[in-house]
Amino acid sequence: MATKIDVRRFNFYYGDFQALKDVTLEIPERKITALIGPSGCGKTTFLRALNRMNDRIKGARPVGDILIDGQNIYDPRIDVVDLRRRVGMVFQRPNPFPQSVFDNVAFGPAVLGLMRNAGELAARVEESLIEVGLWDEIKDALDGPAQALNPGSSSGSASRAPWPPSPRSSSWMSPARRSTRWPPSGSKP
Ligand SMILES: Nc1ncnc2c1ncn2[C@@H]1O[C@H](COP(=O)(O)OP(=O)(O)O)[C@@H](O)[C@H]1O
Ligand SMILES: [Mg+2]
Repeated sequence: MATKIDVRRFNFYYGDFQALKDVTLEIPERKITALIGPSGCGKTTFLRALNRMNDRIKGARPVGDILIDGQNIYDPRIDVVDLRRRVGMVFQRPNPFPQSVFDNVAFGPAVLGLMRNAGELAARVEESLIEVGLWDEIKDALDGPAQALNPGSSSGSASRAPWPPSPRSSSWMSPARRSTRWPPSGSKP
């Protein structure tokens, strides 16, 4: 079975504190791998290391190698945006952006420029919400703020937004139907 992620003597430091010590393991492709351990043992640190989400933490320092598809993701030549596009993370609690429901669901396909026009994007949003059984519940609230949704209720689970968005086409030409501004300020597609 092919190895998807190859972790070789990987260490991780928060300043002087060493959170991961010489982690070596091979994660096979198309299998579910579970990390089990007590609180504080480093599960989240390890997961965040897989798409370099820890990079932004001041004083954080990785030592060692993590290869994904044979490529060392800590190589300085790695395009981190591209890495994070390939290595996604679904959080325990949804983290919607401070935008409308529509814009949250549309975010991935729009940023990646997968849709040819606003109509295609709207269709993709509808299709995604139908797929996860939320369309009927939420179709009249698409323009409302996503953060107003209750993550505990059956609606409003941001982790159900389509990811990865299914590729349809490679360019994005017109602004999203509902967005007054696109890309949203502060985002760097
Ligand atoms: N941003 C941080 N700065 C300093 N120490 C941290 C930070 N995040 C986590 N840690 C420490 O690293 C260790 C591993 O934490 P974490 O990866 O969150 O463990 P787990 O997910 O298994 O509960 C813990 O001792 C935690 O206190
Ligand atoms: Mg954790």
